[in-house]
Amino acid sequence: MNSSGARPAARPGHAPADAPTEAPVAPGRVPLAGHAPRFRRDALRFVREQRHHGPVTKVYIGPRPVHVVNSGELVRELLTAQARSFDKGAMFDALRVPLGDGLITAAGDRHLRHRRTMQPAFHHDRIAGYARIMSERSLARSAAWAPGTTRDLVPDIHRLTLDILLSTLFADPQDPELRTAVKDWLTVKYHSMRLALSPLHAWAERLPLLPGWRPPDDGPLRRLVAVQQRIVDGYRADGRDRGDLLSMLLLAGGPEGALSDTEVTDELITLFLAGTGTVSASLAWALYEISRRPDVQRRLHDEFDTVLEAGRPPRFEDVPALVFTRQVLTETLRLHPPSWLLMRRAVRPVTLGGVRLAPGAEVFFSPYALHHDPHLYEDPEQFRPDRWPPDAAAKPPRHTYLPFGAGSRLCVGEDFAWTELTLAVAAFTAHRRLEPVAAAPVRPLVGTVLRPDRLPLTAHARTS
Ligand code: HEM
Repeated sequence: MNSSGARPAARPGHAPADAPTEAPVAPGRVPLAGHAPRFRRDALRFVREQRHHGPVTKVYIGPRPVHVVNSGELVRELLTAQARSFDKGAMFDALRVPLGDGLITAAGDRHLRHRRTMQPAFHHDRIAGYARIMSERSLARSAAWAPGTTRDLVPDIHRLTLDILLSTLFADPQDPELRTAVKDWLTVKYHSMRLALSPLHAWAERLPLLPGWRPPDDGPLRRLVAVQQRIVDGYRADGRDRGDLLSMLLLAGGPEGALSDTEVTDELITLFLAGTGTVSASLAWALYEISRRPDVQRRLHDEFDTVLEAGRPPRFEDVPALVFTRQVLTETLRLHPPSWLLMRRAVRPVTLGGVRLAPGAEVFFSPYALHHDPHLYEDPEQFRPDRWPPDAAAKPPRHTYLPFGAGSRLCVGEDFAWTELTLAVAAFTAHRRLEPVAAAPVRPLVGTVLRPDRLPLTAHARTS
């Protein structure tokens, strides 16, 4: 055992007992594509299987070697004790084209300064203000779903989370130019993100003239930045706090100084990316699991009837009392973590689990694989909200339960997300009984976010 308590990787040759060594290459590598075909065939299975080959393994995405960290202890070491030895890695370099350089992609001191400046926008008292928007929009969106009708909720939920984010970011979320620019940007963003993870991208880094290679289009990003700049100019002109997130970003300063206009627009774009797909995937998975479990629905209805007396709309102050709702959401994010695969890159020589990583070495780890490890969770494939008694649901273990990451890069929007998800689940389920459509099975779509491919559900009026 090494200092982290994890077993060192297999030691080839005659290396002395404690000398750092190479990680074993995972089985199934093929010429040119590496492990990419296996990864593409069933990525969730591929990441889950890695733990059978060692605490750290090496896989190839095309020509690019990537270390995969498979033990909870080593993931903790990566994200906390050794965090300063890593930045976010090649995929995030590629993402600077559609995203700019906001909190998600930023490294080192820039990351620290932005993080300190952004944090006040996500403080508890600020989220109380956003909660009214979350509840109103969720109720309005769910009102379109009449009892006795069946809908695919995926598009509804997607529109809802984008609407909530736009309305919390900007005092005037209906600005038509802004809406068009965001829609266009979201379309290319998905293309660029898929590309950044593909073996084609890895080869194109080495052979830029590869046939079929098309660099990401930065036009939509430039148009979105221009619209945002116009809005920022308006805010700067009168200096008022409009109660929205953008006001917070512009007013935030502190000893290290305020953010420049470019930094603010980069952060807005980062929030579109980080705060929409993840929340919509989580809400969709939660409603999916709830619809399949009449016992869970009954307990949720009991809770809503007690906490939301006389059927009133859910409010920010109700969130701590919705204890079983929190258990359901905690279990949903264990079973279906939207950020199923996270990555880092060594910025200096570092040893992890006895494996030597040179500067530039790429590292993946999978919250999904940890959440489905039978050594960490009994019957991990079962949806069991009761594995999280109330205290545990509010404070799950940080390094085997990672839907929001950990350490200095922990999701800055975590409280925002819990509040939004709790209020949205209440809005969609308090007055309805949800039923899945048996003839239309729901499947996971594995992209940069893990989400259901569709969610056809029938709403029934509650009889009790
Ligand atoms: C259920 C919903 C969400 C999930 C599962 C989620 C997940 C995550 C994860 C895993 C990370 C860390 C990534 C890493 O370590 O590489 C992260 C970072 C981040 N998230 Fe979230 N997120 C959610 C909602 C949100 C929301 C609502 C916002 C903002 C409105 C947000 C903003 C961010 C930002 C800005 C970062 C970068 C933080 C940093 O690097 O310092 N997220 N998120």
